[in-house]
Amino acid sequence: MEIRATNIQWHEGHVNRNDREKMLKHRGATIWFTGLSASGKSTLAFTVEHALMEQGHLAYVLDGDNVRHGLNKNLGFSAVDREENIRRISEVAKLFADAGVICMTSFISPYRADRDNARKLHEEANLTFIEVFMDTPIEVCEQRDPKGLYKKARAGELKQFTGIDDPYEAPLNPELIVNTAQLSPAEAAIQVIGLLQERKIL
Ligand code: ADX
Repeated sequence: MEIRATNIQWHEGHVNRNDREKMLKHRGATIWFTGLSASGKSTLAFTVEHALMEQGHLAYVLDGDNVRHGLNKNLGFSAVDREENIRRISEVAKLFADAGVICMTSFISPYRADRDNARKLHEEANLTFIEVFMDTPIEVCEQRDPKGLYKKARAGELKQFTGIDDPYEAPLNPELIVNTAQLSPAEAAIQVIGLLQERKIL
């Protein structure tokens, strides 16, 4: 990537992450959900968000379809655009986590290198990064097909659709693997929140 931002300087504020975390009574972190379309990423992320809010924690979901309505509305689904989509969200998630929020990202994020880069950004900033792989078989996703997109892709009306004629690289070492064909969103949410407790985020 060409870097065009020159003559810029980092400006420290008067309040640091520690101060914010004391106020919020938890640590900021990013939970990165990855998996095929209709694999259950957003359903699980929004379930976790709700549960955390009920326990008095500030959580926020950055959802692929939602973010593509605004910040990333100028990006399509070519490899280059998906990479830029994930690069921006990696940076935004890092900002949210630094703000003290328990941030959840719900993007297909099909490329391992892009997800690894998101992890690296967080780890370099001393922020916890938890990758959750929604290991839902494509047959199940295709049967759910809530937006009718698998049907369109099979009919050749939608090109470069992940899992049909575009790749998905499964994580090699995720912190959590969820099979939504076997677990309900509530059961999976308990596992995610358990991880947050283990990692001393809560
Ligand atoms: S990503 O690959 O760049 O991470 P993202 O999660 O933002 O994808 O967006 C995926 C959503 O966009 C899908 O859930 C689906 O609703 C919609 N979509 C539209 N076209 C495609 C496509 N070609 N491949 C995958 N998803 C698509």
